[in-house]
Amino acid sequence: MGVFGYIGKNKAIPVLVGGLRKLGFQGFDSTGLAVLEEGGIWITKSTGKLVDLESKLSARTFTSTVGIGHTRWATHGRPCDENAHPHTDCHGNFAVVHNGIIENYLELKEWLISEGHIFRSETDTEVLPHLIEHYYEGDLEATVCKVLNKIEGSYALIVLSCKHPGMLIAARKNSSLVVGLGEEECYLASNFSAIPEYTKKTYVLDDEEIAVLTDGRAQFIDFQGKTKEKEVCEVNWDASVVEKEDYEHFMLKEIYEQPKVLRDTLSGRLADEKVVLKEMSLTPEQITGFNKVAIVACGTAYHAGLIGRSLIERWAKIPVEIDIASEFRYRSPLIDDRTLVIVLSQSGETADTLAALREAKRLGARIVGITNVVGSSVSREAHDVIYTWAGPEIAIASTKAYTTQIEAMVLLALYLSQAKATMPQEWNREIITELKRIPDKASEIFMQVPKIQHMASYIKESSSAFFIGRGLDWAVALEGSLKLKETTYIHAEAYAAGELKHGAIALITENTPIVALNTQRELYDKTLSNVNEIKARGAQVIGFTFKGNDSFGQSVDEVLYLPETINELAPILTVIPLQLLAYYVSLARGNDVDRPRNLVKSVTVE
Ligand code: M6R
Repeated sequence: MGVFGYIGKNKAIPVLVGGLRKLGFQGFDSTGLAVLEEGGIWITKSTGKLVDLESKLSARTFTSTVGIGHTRWATHGRPCDENAHPHTDCHGNFAVVHNGIIENYLELKEWLISEGHIFRSETDTEVLPHLIEHYYEGDLEATVCKVLNKIEGSYALIVLSCKHPGMLIAARKNSSLVVGLGEEECYLASNFSAIPEYTKKTYVLDDEEIAVLTDGRAQFIDFQGKTKEKEVCEVNWDASVVEKEDYEHFMLKEIYEQPKVLRDTLSGRLADEKVVLKEMSLTPEQITGFNKVAIVACGTAYHAGLIGRSLIERWAKIPVEIDIASEFRYRSPLIDDRTLVIVLSQSGETADTLAALREAKRLGARIVGITNVVGSSVSREAHDVIYTWAGPEIAIASTKAYTTQIEAMVLLALYLSQAKATMPQEWNREIITELKRIPDKASEIFMQVPKIQHMASYIKESSSAFFIGRGLDWAVALEGSLKLKETTYIHAEAYAAGELKHGAIALITENTPIVALNTQRELYDKTLSNVNEIKARGAQVIGFTFKGNDSFGQSVDEVLYLPETINELAPILTVIPLQLLAYYVSLARGNDVDRPRNLVKSVTVE
């Protein structure tokens, strides 16, 4: 879901549709936009895809140079035209688009109804235009401030009014919003990726900040109406990275981009014998003072965190705990100023992850954010930030963000171990040398695509699949099974290979494909035995291991040999064929690969 706004000298409709298309990757079930025509607000909405909205728009010629748009993913009320944004007040003087949730909307709605307001949708958002209508006395800025002080929740919202045709007002709280500054024109978007096509100059709104756009200028005030100064931030993404180019899907393009982005993420961060993280401001004394590390993240980022846990414990010898961000606060974590909290988030805007970050900060912890989005909430709220230079990730299924997150965890684990001198220099050197080879080794995997397509045929008709592995392979199995689940809708479960025989092996029949990972050398024989136990139950096993591991290769039905690397870096390579496997199974099942059902790219609600 997303909000987009434009005010300037060009016709608004094509710009708004272009902006919504860029935001579309976040997933949506309906769209809508509002422009000013003939002195009034003109609204067009549609359930379904953006082309449906475009076809409605084609029935008329629009001249407006100001407007707002929205892609909706239903939270309050089913997906339908009435619930799609923009929403207006009773007289159609104010239109609002909104990302997020107004938590106290029910009581506000009841009160507004008692005051005579008529509601047309089931949404929480609709209270906003009615509140503006209620309090409006001629000054839109002051009215919006007043309304924002009445509502609770999270929001990135934009207000358009036919009473102020040369103005757009936008506000944010716990939901991202960016202003793009062009030549005598301004853009608003809930995600950076919608901006670089138009301008590289942006302002990132802070929490509880309002942007007032008039005459190609942006001014900023807080919720009390006090003026704020802001600095322009240059977006370093090229507009072409948000195009599919010759790939059939963004997911495939992003899988293939991995060698490049893995190289970019390492760039400037490796010297001959050590990691150089100029962005980190921790002193060796501070690092030695940490008695534990806590990692929080959701989904794929959580899986990258699992790899990070092992690396930090192995290399930096600091105990690490890890939580799914949505669970973190509710187990009363023992966090204090001696805890280093690592927050991983591709988008930097995931609501659960941000809530965990804030709780850890409240408890006094030092926060390192690992994120892909410059200017995101994680990047601004963490004490230190390590960026993954993966570029915009458009497909909902995360791929390049995951492998670059693992790289960032490798760099951070080495950085911590260097400060604590917990590893022999020789070992450190060996890891760094191997890390530099990883992007090329990732490229080698693409030569085996026909094999992976063939492997997909083992899974495409199945209703259930298992991913197994031990140690770091188990962490990668979790990510492989998530990829399969979200893109193919096949029930997939990841199991620690040694745990299967304690129950889940009862589910295994000749119709259950098993994806077995065996890259961790000290666990090789044990995983091999687990695979043999499964084979004895008649299941078909697809195996992933290093060249030369023939006994494993002979035990499974199909094997893919990965380029060899050290145990700790193996996850970066092992996951790539699993991403491709999910992609080809999804394709074979005719799914919408880039936009799987029920999912959004950035989950901004808890
Ligand atoms: O933007 P984030 O990294 O915080 O997102 C976390 C998860 O929502 C995300 O990784 C999700 O699990 C992906 N759809 C997985 O492919």
